Amino acid sequence: MASSQILVAVIGVVAVASVIASGAPPLQPPRIGADVVVMGYVPCNNGTSMKTGSAPGFPNAVVQLQCADDAVAGSATTDGRGWFRMAMNTTATLSSVAIGCELVVATPLASCDAALPATGTLESGLRLLVSMVFFPRGFSYVAPALD
Ligand SMILES: *[C@@H]1O[C@H](CO)[C@@H](O)[C@H](O)[C@H]1NC(C)=O
Ligand SMILES: *[C@@H]1O[C@H](CO)[C@@H](O)[C@H](O)[C@H]1NC(C)=O
Repeated sequence: MASSQILVAVIGVVAVASVIASGAPPLQPPRIGADVVVMGYVPCNNGTSMKTGSAPGFPNAVVQLQCADDAVAGSATTDGRGWFRMAMNTTATLSSVAIGCELVVATPLASCDAALPATGTLESGLRLLVSMVFFPRGFSYVAPALD
């Protein structure tokens, strides 16, 4: 390959990499009128770091987005199969949402399976999936604090 061809190839790689790094078009999803979208699956189980589909879905569970500095907060209810989606406008940066926010399911697990605990919560950190769409890292059961 001639050196001019190599140079063109290098410039092409750099251009693609900078588009990916800046999140600029054409990689953006359709506009949905929100700065932050959180969507995912809540399992009806009391395990640790549970993945999507690792247990039956938790229907009608109230999922709250709680953040350290209250810069953004949201809430959604899961559908009949355990899926939820919430959209918020916020001035918080995406990195501060990823670090400072978590999902908390206040609805007791006993409401989807009477054999599961009636106290405690399911909680999960957030993972940036693409653009401004976050997904749960995996829900874990957190027993109530003893006091
Ligand atoms: C966010 O703000 C935009 C522009 O003001 C508005 O159209 C949209 O409905 C808002 N979205 C939410 C989830 O509040
Ligand atoms: C999960 O729930 C079952 C049934 O209530 C209980 O026996 C078990 O100890 C729980 N596991 C954890 C980690 O709390």
